Amino acid sequence: MPHEPGRVRLVGAGPGSADLLTVRALRAVEGAQALLYDALVSDEVIALAPAACLKIQTGKRAGRTSMKQETINRLMLRLARRGLDVVRLKGGDPSIFGRVGEEAAFLHACGIATEVVPGVTAASAAAAQFGFPLTHRGEARRLLLATATTQDSGLTEGGWAAAADPETTVALYMGRDRLEAAAQRLIAQGRSPATPVMAVENAGRPDARAMPGTLAGLGATLAAARVTGPVVLIVGEVTAQADVFAAMPNDALAEAG
Ligand SMILES: C[S@@+](CC[C@H](N)C(=O)[O-])C[C@H]1O[C@@H](n2cnc3c(N)ncnc32)[C@H](O)[C@@H]1O
Repeated sequence: MPHEPGRVRLVGAGPGSADLLTVRALRAVEGAQALLYDALVSDEVIALAPAACLKIQTGKRAGRTSMKQETINRLMLRLARRGLDVVRLKGGDPSIFGRVGEEAAFLHACGIATEVVPGVTAASAAAAQFGFPLTHRGEARRLLLATATTQDSGLTEGGWAAAADPETTVALYMGRDRLEAAAQRLIAQGRSPATPVMAVENAGRPDARAMPGTLAGLGATLAAARVTGPVVLIVGEVTAQADVFAAMPNDALAEAG
């Protein structure tokens, strides 16, 4: 007898720590029969899936290459057509640089029921952890989420102009090696070189690091920090409110002197 098609839930895993999952995301992971997870999903979160759940890594991790988007789509479809409850787990919020639109459209076109479960995005986790807001009355009237890479929706001319507005907080995702170039571009567009910035590595995780600086000094800040983990760069006056020591574990505090 043919199986009833299963469903696919596109779930935000948040920035890493399991206690930043939403309750809905937690329930989805705990009930998953097949779990397809991206590189930035932490082991702590993957471990919440049942032992019998089929777990498939789709992102670049520990030297392995990423699966092609087409392969991921076909895999989700095959598993759902087997009647499984499939969870597609993505770091942060799946609707922010998470290709959720493409995956949902593909599944919808194939007649598979989908649901999106939101998650805590890296910028929100960074701001909460280091004690600064992303918008602030009279100081930061808008928040622009963008990427420093050009491959995925890099800033267009109009986008750079909006980002140069002193009342815009800019959160730059991806393209760690291109952050300095993005900072220079913002300065060229008229944003003050003295604008405070905060690069946050591993936001929302116990090993998070906050690297405060200025737009003009970003290159030196990043070079000195030798980052290896995922980094979100927040640009704007609001970052000056941060307490960079607030979230640091004791050993990191001792190292910072
Ligand atoms: C493909 S995007 C996915 C963003 C994700 N959907 C979100 O809402 O956070 C990956 C980029 O997000 C940022 N990122 C994701 N998790 C992060 C974390 N825990 N700390 C800092 N940046 C993070 C980095 O810029 C990374 O290169």
